[in-house]
Amino acid sequence: MSTLTQLSHVHRFIPATSPRKPPLLLLHGTGGDENDLVPLGQAVAPGAALLSPRGKVLEGGRPRFFRRLAEGVFDEEDIRRRANELADFVEDAREVYGLQAPVALGFSNGANIAAAVLQLRPEVLAGAVLLRAMVPLKEPPQADLEGKRVLMLSGAADPIVPAENAARLVSVLKRAGAIVDLRTVPVGHNLSQADLTITKAWLHDGI
Ligand code: MLT
Repeated sequence: MSTLTQLSHVHRFIPATSPRKPPLLLLHGTGGDENDLVPLGQAVAPGAALLSPRGKVLEGGRPRFFRRLAEGVFDEEDIRRRANELADFVEDAREVYGLQAPVALGFSNGANIAAAVLQLRPEVLAGAVLLRAMVPLKEPPQADLEGKRVLMLSGAADPIVPAENAARLVSVLKRAGAIVDLRTVPVGHNLSQADLTITKAWLHDGI
């Protein structure tokens, strides 16, 4: 049995006031921290428990969830290690806080690690909202994502994530059995009100 002090990631936990809602696992983008996505989590799933870890990799002092070699060029060995470490954190935190499996809500680097967790440790997540995600692993293992719901929101003018890359991630997840809803919002890499509105409606429809 894990205890709070043994949890591997610095994090924030906000207990549910509507305990029937699935918890959200908030995963920030590069240079963010455990506080970043809390307002978004509260806006899209009012009353849900929020579990928000800080990425353990530092890039020039800026937290991330895995190492990259350049913009969009990932250290895949590190992705595998960090995704497993994050999955272990989620399992331990569920025990400590008494949570059901969370839905990941990740932005950018946080969306990419969420996609990697889905592929490497699918049982850990009830579903995922991937905001500006790209393919994390060129050769992912055969994951069983049968029936798992995933919302992907891409930016039409995203200078970091090519549309072809986001589409490739959708196909890989679908091939593994996930029910993927890909929407394109008329913005770039940054989040917009449309992301919030679509995510809130999708979560409300039930995971
Ligand atoms: C980022 O800036 O975080 C990238 O777009 C995504 C990544 O490196 O994982």
